[in-house]
Amino acid sequence: MTTREQRDAYLKEAWYNLFLLRAEDVIIDLLTDSGTAAMSSEQWAGIMRGDESYAGSSSFYRFEASVREVFGFKHVIPMHQGRAAERILFSVMCKPGQVIPNNTHFDTTRANIEYTGAEALDLPIPEFYEPALSHPFKGNMDTEALRRLIGRVGPGRIPLVMLTVTSNSGGGQPVSMANLREVRDICSRYGIPLYLDACRFAENAYFIKLREEGYQEKSVKEIAREMFELADGCTMSAKKDGLANIGGFLCTNDDLLAQQEKDLLILTEGFPTYGGLAGRDLDAIAVGLQEVLHEDYLEYRFASIGYLGRHIAGAGVPIVEPPGGHAIYIDAKAMLPHIPSDQFPGQALAVELYREAGIRSCEIGSVMHSAGNTHDEEKKPAAMELVRLAIPHRVYTQSHVDYVIEAILQVYDRRESIGGYRIVQQPPFLRHFSARFEPYTSSLARRLPAYANSILVA
Ligand SMILES: Cc1ncc(COP(=O)(O)O)c(C=O)c1O
Repeated sequence: MTTREQRDAYLKEAWYNLFLLRAEDVIIDLLTDSGTAAMSSEQWAGIMRGDESYAGSSSFYRFEASVREVFGFKHVIPMHQGRAAERILFSVMCKPGQVIPNNTHFDTTRANIEYTGAEALDLPIPEFYEPALSHPFKGNMDTEALRRLIGRVGPGRIPLVMLTVTSNSGGGQPVSMANLREVRDICSRYGIPLYLDACRFAENAYFIKLREEGYQEKSVKEIAREMFELADGCTMSAKKDGLANIGGFLCTNDDLLAQQEKDLLILTEGFPTYGGLAGRDLDAIAVGLQEVLHEDYLEYRFASIGYLGRHIAGAGVPIVEPPGGHAIYIDAKAMLPHIPSDQFPGQALAVELYREAGIRSCEIGSVMHSAGNTHDEEKKPAAMELVRLAIPHRVYTQSHVDYVIEAILQVYDRRESIGGYRIVQQPPFLRHFSARFEPYTSSLARRLPAYANSILVA
Protein backbone atom coordinates (compact mmCIF):
# COMPACT_ATOMS: atom_id res chain seq x y z
CA MET A 1 0.00 0.00 0.00
CA THR A 2 1.17 3.54 -0.70
CA THR A 3 -0.08 6.98 0.26
CA ARG A 4 -1.11 9.65 -2.19
CA GLU A 5 1.93 11.75 -1.20
CA GLN A 6 4.23 8.81 -1.95
CA ARG A 7 2.53 8.25 -5.29
CA ASP A 8 2.97 11.92 -6.20
CA ALA A 9 6.71 11.49 -5.59
CA TYR A 10 6.90 8.16 -7.48
CA LEU A 11 5.16 9.74 -10.47
CA LYS A 12 7.67 12.55 -10.56
CA GLU A 13 10.60 10.15 -10.28
CA ALA A 14 9.13 8.06 -13.13
CA TRP A 15 8.66 11.11 -15.37
CA TYR A 16 4.91 10.43 -15.39
CA ASN A 17 5.49 7.26 -17.41
CA LEU A 18 3.80 4.34 -15.64
CA PHE A 19 6.16 1.84 -17.31
CA LEU A 20 8.96 3.45 -15.30
CA LEU A 21 7.34 2.83 -11.87
CA ARG A 22 8.54 0.06 -9.61
CA ALA A 23 5.90 -2.69 -9.51
CA GLU A 24 6.03 -2.76 -5.71
CA ASP A 25 4.72 0.81 -5.71
CA VAL A 26 1.62 -0.29 -7.64
CA ILE A 27 -1.46 -1.49 -5.71
CA ILE A 28 -3.54 -2.93 -8.58
CA ASP A 29 -1.57 -3.58 -11.75
CA LEU A 30 -3.72 -3.40 -14.88
CA LEU A 31 -0.86 -2.32 -17.15
CA THR A 32 -1.19 -5.51 -19.18
CA ASP A 33 -2.53 -9.04 -19.28
CA SER A 34 0.75 -10.06 -20.92
CA GLY A 35 2.94 -12.43 -18.91
CA THR A 36 1.12 -11.48 -15.73
CA ALA A 37 -1.07 -14.59 -15.40
CA ALA A 38 -1.07 -16.63 -12.23
CA MET A 39 0.00 -20.06 -13.43
CA SER A 40 -2.03 -23.09 -12.41
CA SER A 41 -0.79 -26.04 -10.36
CA GLU A 42 -0.68 -28.08 -13.58
CA GLN A 43 1.53 -25.46 -15.23
CA TRP A 44 3.85 -25.49 -12.23
CA ALA A 45 3.92 -29.27 -12.43
CA GLY A 46 4.92 -28.81 -16.08
CA ILE A 47 7.72 -26.49 -14.99
CA MET A 48 9.04 -29.23 -12.70
CA ARG A 49 9.08 -31.66 -15.64
CA GLY A 50 11.12 -29.24 -17.78
CA ASP A 51 13.84 -30.93 -19.82
CA GLU A 52 16.72 -28.51 -20.32
CA SER A 53 18.56 -30.44 -23.05
CA TYR A 54 19.98 -28.02 -25.60
CA ALA A 55 18.48 -29.86 -28.57
CA GLY A 56 15.46 -32.11 -28.97
CA SER A 57 14.19 -31.85 -25.39
CA SER A 58 11.04 -33.72 -24.41
CA SER A 59 9.65 -30.32 -23.29
CA PHE A 60 9.81 -29.18 -26.92
CA TYR A 61 7.90 -32.20 -28.16
CA ARG A 62 5.18 -31.73 -25.52
CA PHE A 63 4.99 -28.03 -26.53
CA GLU A 64 4.87 -28.84 -30.23
CA ALA A 65 2.14 -31.46 -29.75
CA SER A 66 0.01 -29.04 -27.71
CA VAL A 67 0.39 -26.20 -30.26
CA ARG A 68 -0.35 -28.57 -33.17
CA GLU A 69 -3.45 -29.92 -31.47
CA VAL A 70 -4.94 -26.43 -31.00
CA PHE A 71 -3.48 -24.50 -33.96
CA GLY A 72 -2.99 -27.26 -36.51
CA PHE A 73 -0.09 -25.69 -38.45
CA LYS A 74 2.70 -27.82 -39.93
CA HIS A 75 5.70 -25.93 -38.52
CA VAL A 76 5.85 -24.72 -34.91
CA ILE A 77 8.84 -22.53 -34.05
CA PRO A 78 9.28 -21.45 -30.40
CA MET A 79 10.19 -17.84 -29.64
CA HIS A 80 10.90 -15.97 -26.43
CA GLN A 81 7.80 -13.79 -26.97
CA GLY A 82 5.43 -12.45 -29.62
CA ARG A 83 7.60 -9.66 -30.95
CA ALA A 84 10.45 -12.09 -31.66
CA ALA A 85 8.03 -14.04 -33.87
CA GLU A 86 7.04 -10.78 -35.55
CA ARG A 87 10.64 -9.74 -36.15
CA ILE A 88 11.56 -13.07 -37.71
CA LEU A 89 8.40 -13.32 -39.82
CA PHE A 90 8.67 -9.76 -41.16
CA SER A 91 12.46 -9.97 -41.69
CA VAL A 92 11.88 -12.96 -43.95
CA MET A 93 8.72 -11.77 -45.72
CA CYS A 94 8.82 -7.94 -45.92
CA LYS A 95 10.90 -5.34 -47.67
CA PRO A 96 10.80 -1.57 -48.31
CA GLY A 97 7.91 -0.41 -50.49
CA GLN A 98 5.58 -3.21 -49.41
CA VAL A 99 2.31 -2.83 -47.48
CA ILE A 100 1.02 -5.15 -44.75
CA PRO A 101 -2.68 -4.64 -44.00
CA ASN A 102 -4.22 -5.74 -40.71
CA ASN A 103 -7.54 -5.06 -38.99
CA THR A 104 -5.35 -3.13 -36.52
CA HIS A 105 -1.65 -3.61 -35.93
CA PHE A 106 -0.55 -3.61 -32.32
CA ASP A 107 2.44 -1.48 -31.32
CA THR A 108 5.19 -4.10 -31.65
CA THR A 109 3.71 -5.48 -34.88
CA ARG A 110 3.63 -2.05 -36.45
CA ALA A 111 7.16 -1.22 -35.25
CA ASN A 112 8.63 -4.49 -36.51
CA ILE A 113 7.04 -4.01 -39.94
CA GLU A 114 8.21 -0.41 -40.16
CA TYR A 115 11.69 -1.51 -39.12
CA THR A 116 11.92 -3.52 -42.37
CA GLY A 117 10.97 -0.41 -44.37
CA ALA A 118 7.49 -1.73 -45.22
CA GLU A 119 4.25 0.05 -44.35
CA ALA A 120 1.86 -1.23 -41.64
CA LEU A 121 -1.69 -0.32 -42.62
CA ASP A 122 -4.84 -0.58 -40.46
CA LEU A 123 -8.07 -1.48 -42.27
CA PRO A 124 -10.72 -1.86 -39.54
CA ILE A 125 -14.44 -1.49 -40.21
CA PRO A 126 -15.62 2.13 -39.70
CA GLU A 127 -17.51 1.19 -36.48
CA PHE A 128 -14.12 0.47 -34.86
CA TYR A 129 -13.41 4.20 -34.59
CA GLU A 130 -16.61 4.96 -32.68
CA PRO A 131 -15.93 3.97 -29.06
CA ALA A 132 -19.53 4.36 -27.85
CA LEU A 133 -21.01 2.29 -30.67
CA SER A 134 -21.76 -1.34 -29.90
CA HIS A 135 -21.04 -3.96 -32.58
CA PRO A 136 -20.62 -7.71 -32.01
CA PHE A 137 -17.47 -7.94 -34.14
CA LYS A 138 -15.85 -4.54 -34.03
CA GLY A 139 -12.46 -6.17 -34.72
CA ASN A 140 -13.50 -7.12 -38.28
CA MET A 141 -11.43 -6.01 -41.24
CA ASP A 142 -13.04 -3.71 -43.82
CA THR A 143 -12.97 -6.17 -46.71
CA GLU A 144 -13.97 -3.55 -49.29
CA ALA A 145 -10.98 -1.45 -48.19
CA LEU A 146 -8.77 -4.54 -48.54
CA ARG A 147 -10.03 -5.10 -52.12
CA ARG A 148 -9.42 -1.42 -52.93
CA LEU A 149 -5.90 -1.60 -51.49
CA ILE A 150 -5.06 -4.67 -53.59
CA GLY A 151 -6.47 -2.91 -56.66
CA ARG A 152 -4.44 0.21 -55.93
CA VAL A 153 -1.01 -1.20 -55.02
CA GLY A 154 -1.28 -4.65 -56.67
CA PRO A 155 -0.98 -8.01 -54.89
CA GLY A 156 2.76 -8.13 -55.62
CA ARG A 157 3.37 -5.39 -53.06
CA ILE A 158 1.42 -7.16 -50.30
CA PRO A 159 3.57 -10.01 -48.93
CA LEU A 160 0.93 -11.01 -46.37
CA VAL A 161 -2.35 -9.92 -44.83
CA MET A 162 -2.74 -10.10 -41.04
CA LEU A 163 -5.74 -10.30 -38.74
CA THR A 164 -5.27 -9.61 -35.04
CA VAL A 165 -7.58 -11.75 -32.88
CA THR A 166 -8.78 -10.04 -30.80
CA SER A 167 -7.94 -6.49 -31.84
CA ASN A 168 -5.96 -5.08 -28.91
CA SER A 169 -5.46 -1.52 -30.19
CA GLY A 170 -9.09 -0.57 -29.94
CA GLY A 171 -10.95 -2.44 -27.28
CA GLY A 172 -10.04 -6.15 -27.34
CA GLN A 173 -12.73 -6.56 -30.00
CA PRO A 174 -13.25 -9.86 -31.84
CA VAL A 175 -13.15 -10.83 -35.51
CA SER A 176 -16.06 -12.98 -36.73
CA MET A 177 -15.58 -16.27 -38.54
CA ALA A 178 -17.51 -14.80 -41.48
CA ASN A 179 -15.03 -11.92 -41.74
CA LEU A 180 -12.08 -14.27 -41.40
CA ARG A 181 -13.51 -16.40 -44.19
CA GLU A 182 -14.08 -13.40 -46.45
CA VAL A 183 -10.52 -12.14 -45.90
CA ARG A 184 -9.26 -15.68 -46.60
CA ASP A 185 -11.20 -15.76 -49.89
CA ILE A 186 -9.76 -12.42 -50.99
CA CYS A 187 -6.23 -13.55 -50.09
CA SER A 188 -6.68 -16.83 -51.95
CA ARG A 189 -7.92 -15.03 -55.05
CA TYR A 190 -4.73 -12.95 -55.20
CA GLY A 191 -2.29 -15.55 -53.84
CA ILE A 192 -1.50 -13.55 -50.69
CA PRO A 193 -0.77 -15.49 -47.47
CA LEU A 194 -3.00 -14.77 -44.46
CA TYR A 195 -1.48 -14.72 -40.98
CA LEU A 196 -3.20 -14.37 -37.63
CA ASP A 197 -1.75 -12.39 -34.74
CA ALA A 198 -3.17 -15.03 -32.43
CA CYS A 199 -2.30 -13.64 -28.96
CA ARG A 200 -5.91 -13.78 -27.74
CA PHE A 201 -7.24 -16.56 -29.98
CA ALA A 202 -9.24 -18.28 -27.21
CA GLU A 203 -11.05 -15.08 -26.26
CA ASN A 204 -11.83 -14.47 -29.94
CA ALA A 205 -13.15 -18.02 -30.32
CA TYR A 206 -15.34 -17.61 -27.22
CA PHE A 207 -16.80 -14.37 -28.61
CA ILE A 208 -17.66 -16.28 -31.80
CA LYS A 209 -19.37 -18.96 -29.73
CA LEU A 210 -21.39 -16.33 -27.85
CA ARG A 211 -22.24 -14.02 -30.74
CA GLU A 212 -22.05 -15.66 -34.16
CA GLU A 213 -24.90 -17.72 -35.50
CA GLY A 214 -24.19 -21.42 -35.89
CA TYR A 215 -21.38 -21.65 -33.30
CA GLN A 216 -23.30 -22.06 -30.05
CA GLU A 217 -23.04 -25.86 -30.07
CA LYS A 218 -19.36 -25.97 -31.02
CA SER A 219 -16.58 -26.09 -28.43
CA VAL A 220 -14.16 -23.16 -28.19
CA LYS A 221 -11.41 -25.55 -29.22
CA GLU A 222 -13.28 -26.52 -32.40
CA ILE A 223 -13.92 -22.86 -33.19
CA ALA A 224 -10.26 -21.98 -32.64
CA ARG A 225 -9.24 -24.81 -34.96
CA GLU A 226 -11.66 -23.53 -37.62
CA MET A 227 -10.10 -20.05 -37.32
CA PHE A 228 -6.58 -21.40 -37.79
CA GLU A 229 -7.63 -23.59 -40.74
CA LEU A 230 -8.38 -20.37 -42.62
CA ALA A 231 -4.83 -19.05 -42.14
CA ASP A 232 -1.40 -19.90 -43.54
CA GLY A 233 0.37 -19.23 -40.28
CA CYS A 234 0.39 -17.13 -37.14
CA THR A 235 2.47 -15.18 -34.68
CA MET A 236 1.70 -15.86 -31.05
CA SER A 237 2.61 -14.35 -27.71
CA ALA A 238 2.05 -17.15 -25.20
CA LYS A 239 2.12 -14.44 -22.51
CA LYS A 240 -1.55 -13.83 -23.26
CA ASP A 241 -3.72 -16.83 -24.13
CA GLY A 242 -0.84 -19.23 -23.43
CA LEU A 243 -1.31 -18.24 -19.76
CA ALA A 244 2.48 -18.29 -19.40
CA ASN A 245 4.82 -15.67 -17.94
CA ILE A 246 7.10 -15.76 -20.98
CA GLY A 247 7.12 -17.32 -24.44
CA GLY A 248 5.65 -17.29 -27.89
CA PHE A 249 5.86 -19.01 -31.23
CA LEU A 250 5.62 -18.65 -34.98
CA CYS A 251 3.67 -21.11 -37.12
CA THR A 252 3.55 -21.65 -40.84
CA ASN A 253 2.48 -24.29 -43.34
CA ASP A 254 5.20 -23.19 -45.80
CA ASP A 255 8.29 -25.47 -45.76
CA LEU A 256 10.67 -22.99 -47.40
CA LEU A 257 9.61 -20.12 -45.14
CA ALA A 258 9.93 -22.33 -42.06
CA GLN A 259 13.51 -23.16 -43.02
CA GLN A 260 14.41 -19.49 -43.50
CA GLU A 261 12.75 -18.60 -40.19
CA LYS A 262 14.61 -21.34 -38.33
CA ASP A 263 17.93 -20.19 -39.84
CA LEU A 264 17.30 -16.68 -38.57
CA LEU A 265 16.14 -18.06 -35.23
CA ILE A 266 19.46 -19.81 -34.71
CA LEU A 267 21.24 -16.53 -35.40
CA THR A 268 19.33 -14.44 -32.87
CA GLU A 269 17.11 -16.51 -30.56
CA GLY A 270 18.45 -20.04 -30.20
CA PHE A 271 18.15 -23.58 -31.52
CA PRO A 272 14.73 -24.35 -33.10
CA THR A 273 13.70 -26.70 -30.29
CA TYR A 274 13.93 -24.00 -27.63
CA GLY A 275 13.89 -20.62 -29.43
CA GLY A 276 15.19 -18.53 -26.53
CA LEU A 277 13.10 -20.29 -23.88
CA ALA A 278 13.96 -22.71 -21.11
CA GLY A 279 12.52 -26.21 -21.49
CA ARG A 280 10.33 -25.58 -18.43
CA ASP A 281 8.75 -22.53 -20.16
CA LEU A 282 7.78 -24.74 -23.09
CA ASP A 283 6.03 -27.10 -20.68
CA ALA A 284 4.14 -24.24 -18.99
CA ILE A 285 2.92 -23.05 -22.41
CA ALA A 286 1.92 -26.59 -23.47
CA VAL A 287 -0.42 -26.79 -20.45
CA GLY A 288 -1.60 -23.14 -20.62
CA LEU A 289 -2.77 -23.48 -24.24
CA GLN A 290 -5.14 -26.26 -23.21
CA GLU A 291 -6.35 -24.57 -20.01
CA VAL A 292 -7.21 -21.30 -21.74
CA LEU A 293 -9.83 -23.20 -23.78
CA HIS A 294 -11.80 -24.25 -20.66
CA GLU A 295 -15.14 -22.60 -21.16
CA ASP A 296 -15.93 -22.14 -17.46
CA TYR A 297 -12.69 -20.18 -17.17
CA LEU A 298 -13.55 -18.01 -20.19
CA GLU A 299 -17.07 -17.46 -18.88
CA TYR A 300 -15.70 -16.22 -15.54
CA ARG A 301 -13.15 -13.96 -17.25
CA PHE A 302 -15.73 -12.34 -19.53
CA ALA A 303 -18.15 -11.91 -16.61
CA SER A 304 -15.59 -10.14 -14.41
CA ILE A 305 -14.44 -7.82 -17.21
CA GLY A 306 -18.07 -7.05 -18.09
CA TYR A 307 -18.75 -6.32 -14.39
CA LEU A 308 -16.04 -3.63 -14.36
CA GLY A 309 -17.27 -2.16 -17.65
CA ARG A 310 -20.94 -2.09 -16.68
CA HIS A 311 -20.31 -0.43 -13.32
CA ILE A 312 -18.19 2.43 -14.61
CA ALA A 313 -20.22 2.95 -17.79
CA GLY A 314 -23.40 2.94 -15.69
CA ALA A 315 -22.02 5.88 -13.71
CA GLY A 316 -21.28 7.83 -16.89
CA VAL A 317 -17.64 6.93 -17.64
CA PRO A 318 -17.30 6.64 -21.44
CA ILE A 319 -15.87 3.25 -22.42
CA VAL A 320 -15.30 1.36 -25.65
CA GLU A 321 -18.49 -0.63 -26.19
CA PRO A 322 -18.98 -3.48 -25.87
CA PRO A 323 -16.41 -4.58 -23.24
CA GLY A 324 -13.51 -6.51 -24.72
CA GLY A 325 -12.18 -9.96 -23.90
CA HIS A 326 -9.15 -9.00 -21.85
CA ALA A 327 -9.67 -5.37 -20.86
CA ILE A 328 -11.93 -2.37 -20.43
CA TYR A 329 -10.90 0.68 -22.43
CA ILE A 330 -11.89 4.12 -21.16
CA ASP A 331 -12.45 6.75 -23.86
CA ALA A 332 -10.18 9.49 -22.49
CA LYS A 333 -11.03 11.87 -25.36
CA ALA A 334 -14.70 11.81 -24.31
CA MET A 335 -13.95 11.91 -20.59
CA LEU A 336 -11.39 14.75 -20.78
CA PRO A 337 -12.57 16.84 -23.77
CA HIS A 338 -10.65 19.86 -22.46
CA ILE A 339 -7.28 18.10 -23.05
CA PRO A 340 -6.24 18.17 -26.74
CA SER A 341 -4.58 15.12 -28.32
CA ASP A 342 -1.15 16.75 -28.32
CA GLN A 343 -1.40 16.96 -24.51
CA PHE A 344 -2.20 13.24 -24.30
CA PRO A 345 -5.56 12.85 -22.51
CA GLY A 346 -5.02 9.08 -22.17
CA GLN A 347 -1.68 9.59 -20.45
CA ALA A 348 -3.24 12.22 -18.17
CA LEU A 349 -6.02 9.85 -17.14
CA ALA A 350 -3.65 6.92 -16.57
CA VAL A 351 -1.48 9.14 -14.35
CA GLU A 352 -4.54 10.24 -12.33
CA LEU A 353 -5.70 6.65 -11.75
CA TYR A 354 -2.31 5.89 -10.31
CA ARG A 355 -2.23 9.07 -8.24
CA GLU A 356 -5.75 8.45 -6.90
CA ALA A 357 -5.49 4.80 -5.97
CA GLY A 358 -2.21 3.20 -7.09
CA ILE A 359 -3.86 1.62 -10.15
CA ARG A 360 -1.55 1.18 -13.13
CA SER A 361 -3.17 1.19 -16.58
CA CYS A 362 -1.89 1.76 -20.11
CA GLU A 363 -2.39 4.63 -22.53
CA ILE A 364 -3.42 3.48 -26.01
CA GLY A 365 -3.68 6.75 -27.89
CA SER A 366 -1.42 9.44 -29.25
CA VAL A 367 1.53 8.45 -27.07
CA MET A 368 1.48 4.86 -28.32
CA HIS A 369 0.02 5.18 -31.79
CA SER A 370 0.47 8.67 -33.21
CA ALA A 371 1.48 8.39 -36.84
CA GLY A 372 5.19 8.53 -37.44
CA ASN A 373 6.13 7.74 -33.86
CA THR A 374 9.51 9.29 -34.44
CA HIS A 375 11.30 12.35 -33.14
CA ASP A 376 9.58 14.81 -35.42
CA GLU A 377 7.26 17.12 -33.50
CA GLU A 378 4.55 17.23 -36.18
CA LYS A 379 2.82 13.91 -35.64
CA LYS A 380 -0.76 13.10 -36.52
CA PRO A 381 -2.84 12.28 -33.43
CA ALA A 382 -4.14 8.75 -32.98
CA ALA A 383 -7.72 8.10 -34.06
CA MET A 384 -8.74 7.32 -30.47
CA GLU A 385 -7.40 8.32 -27.05
CA LEU A 386 -7.93 5.28 -24.84
CA VAL A 387 -6.80 4.01 -21.46
CA ARG A 388 -6.70 0.24 -21.22
CA LEU A 389 -7.42 -1.53 -17.95
CA ALA A 390 -6.11 -4.99 -18.81
CA ILE A 391 -7.09 -7.76 -16.43
CA PRO A 392 -4.28 -10.25 -15.69
CA HIS A 393 -5.47 -13.86 -15.94
CA ARG A 394 -6.48 -15.55 -12.67
CA VAL A 395 -4.99 -12.81 -10.44
CA TYR A 396 -7.60 -10.40 -9.09
CA THR A 397 -10.86 -10.98 -7.23
CA GLN A 398 -14.13 -9.09 -7.26
CA SER A 399 -13.09 -7.00 -4.25
CA HIS A 400 -10.05 -5.77 -6.20
CA VAL A 401 -12.34 -4.89 -9.10
CA ASP A 402 -14.71 -3.05 -6.72
CA TYR A 403 -11.75 -0.98 -5.51
CA VAL A 404 -10.86 -0.14 -9.13
CA ILE A 405 -14.47 0.90 -9.85
CA GLU A 406 -14.53 3.23 -6.83
CA ALA A 407 -11.22 4.82 -7.80
CA ILE A 408 -12.28 5.41 -11.42
CA LEU A 409 -15.48 7.07 -10.28
CA GLN A 410 -13.54 9.35 -7.94
CA VAL A 411 -11.26 10.43 -10.78
CA TYR A 412 -14.31 10.85 -13.00
CA ASP A 413 -15.89 13.22 -10.45
CA ARG A 414 -12.87 15.54 -10.55
CA ARG A 415 -12.19 15.12 -14.29
CA GLU A 416 -12.42 18.84 -15.10
CA SER A 417 -9.41 19.59 -12.87
CA ILE A 418 -7.12 17.15 -14.73
CA GLY A 419 -4.44 18.69 -16.98
CA GLY A 420 -2.41 17.45 -19.94
CA TYR A 421 1.23 16.43 -20.45
CA ARG A 422 4.04 17.03 -22.88
CA ILE A 423 6.89 14.75 -23.89
CA VAL A 424 10.35 15.96 -22.91
CA GLN A 425 12.35 12.95 -24.09
CA GLN A 426 11.55 9.98 -26.33
CA PRO A 427 13.22 7.14 -28.25
CA PRO A 428 12.86 6.81 -32.07
CA PHE A 429 10.26 3.99 -31.89
CA LEU A 430 7.87 2.40 -29.37
CA ARG A 431 8.14 5.62 -27.41
CA HIS A 432 5.42 4.81 -24.86
CA PHE A 433 7.70 2.37 -23.05
CA SER A 434 10.34 4.92 -22.11
CA ALA A 435 9.24 8.48 -23.01
CA ARG A 436 9.53 11.11 -20.30
CA PHE A 437 6.67 13.51 -19.63
CA GLU A 438 6.00 16.61 -17.62
CA PRO A 439 2.72 18.32 -16.76
CA TYR A 440 1.81 20.68 -19.56
CA THR A 441 1.21 23.67 -17.28
CA SER A 442 4.67 23.53 -15.72
CA SER A 443 6.31 23.39 -19.16
CA LEU A 444 4.23 26.36 -20.25
CA ALA A 445 5.17 28.23 -17.09
CA ARG A 446 8.85 27.52 -17.67
CA ARG A 447 8.76 29.02 -21.15
CA LEU A 448 6.96 32.22 -20.12
CA PRO A 449 8.80 35.27 -18.78
CA ALA A 450 9.29 35.41 -15.01
CA TYR A 451 6.44 37.84 -14.29
CA ALA A 452 3.95 35.67 -16.20
CA ASN A 453 5.28 32.69 -14.34
CA SER A 454 4.38 34.19 -11.00
CA ILE A 455 0.89 35.02 -12.27
CA LEU A 456 0.43 31.41 -13.34
CA VAL A 457 1.60 30.10 -9.99
CA ALA A 458 -0.72 32.51 -8.19
C1 LIG B 1 -2.06 -8.08 -30.34
C2 LIG B 1 -0.63 -8.21 -29.88
N1 LIG B 1 0.31 -8.61 -30.75
C3 LIG B 1 1.59 -8.76 -30.39
C4 LIG B 1 2.01 -8.50 -29.09
C5 LIG B 1 3.48 -8.68 -28.73
O1 LIG B 1 3.68 -9.75 -27.86
P1 LIG B 1 4.92 -9.75 -26.82
O2 LIG B 1 4.62 -8.73 -25.78
O3 LIG B 1 4.92 -11.16 -26.26
O4 LIG B 1 6.15 -9.46 -27.57
C6 LIG B 1 1.07 -8.07 -28.15
C7 LIG B 1 1.50 -7.74 -26.79
O5 LIG B 1 0.86 -7.01 -26.06
C8 LIG B 1 -0.29 -7.93 -28.56
O6 LIG B 1 -1.25 -7.56 -27.70
